[in-house]
Amino acid sequence: MPLLGAANHDPAVFENPEVFDITRFPNKHLGFGSGIHSCLGAPLARMETKIAITNLLARNPNLRLAVEPSELELVNAPMWHRYQSLPVVLG
Ligand code: HEM
Repeated sequence: MPLLGAANHDPAVFENPEVFDITRFPNKHLGFGSGIHSCLGAPLARMETKIAITNLLARNPNLRLAVEPSELELVNAPMWHRYQSLPVVLG
C-alpha cells in the first residue's frame, strides 16, 4: 500500500513540499494514484472542484480564514493529510 500522503510531500520530488503552492509546476503528485489503477474519476473530480472553487470565489470575493493559520490543526492520516477543520468568513 503506497502512502500517497507521504509521497506527495517527498522532498526528493518537490521543492518546499510543505508549502501550499497552487502554481507548482511541474507537479508530479500522486493524489489520483498512478499506473493501471489510477483514478477513473480524476477528470470528473477536477471538473467538479474547478466549478466549486470558481463559484465559491465568485460569490465570496472577500473569502478569508476565520482564524490565524497557526491555529489550523493538520491531521496526518495514513493515506491523506488534511486539516481538522477550515473555518472561513464568507463575503
Ligand atoms: C478528489 C477526488 C478523488 C480523489 C483524490 C481520488 C483518488 C483516487 C486514488 C488515489 C485512486 C487509486 C487507488 C489505487 O492506487 O489503488 C483512485 C482510484 C479510483 N477512483 Fe478515485 N478519487 C477521487 C474521485 C473519484 C471519483 C469522482 C470517481 C468516480 C466518479 C472515482 C473513481 C475511482 C475508481 C473507479 C478507482 C479505481 C480505479 C482502478 O482500480 O482501476 N474517483 N481514486
